[in-house]
Amino acid sequence: MKTMRLGVVLAGTLLLGACSGKPAGKAAAAPAPPPKPMSYELRLGRATFQHYCQTCHGETGAGDGFNAFNLDPKPRDLSDPAFQKKKTDADLADAIQRGGAGVGLSAMMPPWGRTLSKEQVEQVVLYLRSLPKH
Ligand code: HEC
Repeated sequence: MKTMRLGVVLAGTLLLGACSGKPAGKAAAAPAPPPKPMSYELRLGRATFQHYCQTCHGETGAGDGFNAFNLDPKPRDLSDPAFQKKKTDADLADAIQRGGAGVGLSAMMPPWGRTLSKEQVEQVVLYLRSLPKH
């Protein structure tokens, strides 16, 4: 008697397994791909950007920070893929270190070479590279 009941339970479990097995599991896993984790350097770059750059360049680099209305010309959209393509990392680092006046742009872009270390400039460039909208 005991063995028979066990048999029924076993058969039931097997049946359940056959019905609700893989397909359901797959469907549940599909919709939420985990967000790409930011590297340590990228997070440092983001912190630097938020601290020193965001007031003018805006949260997304679009040139719409709360101080942007004071600026003429306005900061360009750093997240524009066309802009990103035109500039090398060295160009960006140079503009950041020497400022607008140093590279023939508006003097309203301050030089950061004395404020930020070389590593911080590299990290912030890394962060700028992560901005383009996809
Ligand atoms: C006081 C406002 C202000 C702050 C703060 C500021 N910028 Fe700018 N930035 C500007 C303006 C204005 C321009 C556009 C200059 C022009 O087009 O002549 C600019 C231009 C740039 C450019 C584009 C250079 C190019 O080649 O076109 C980069 C890159 C940049 N800024 C990075 C930064 C980073 C990184 C920081 C923070 C460390 C920062 N900026 C902080 C105002 C600012």
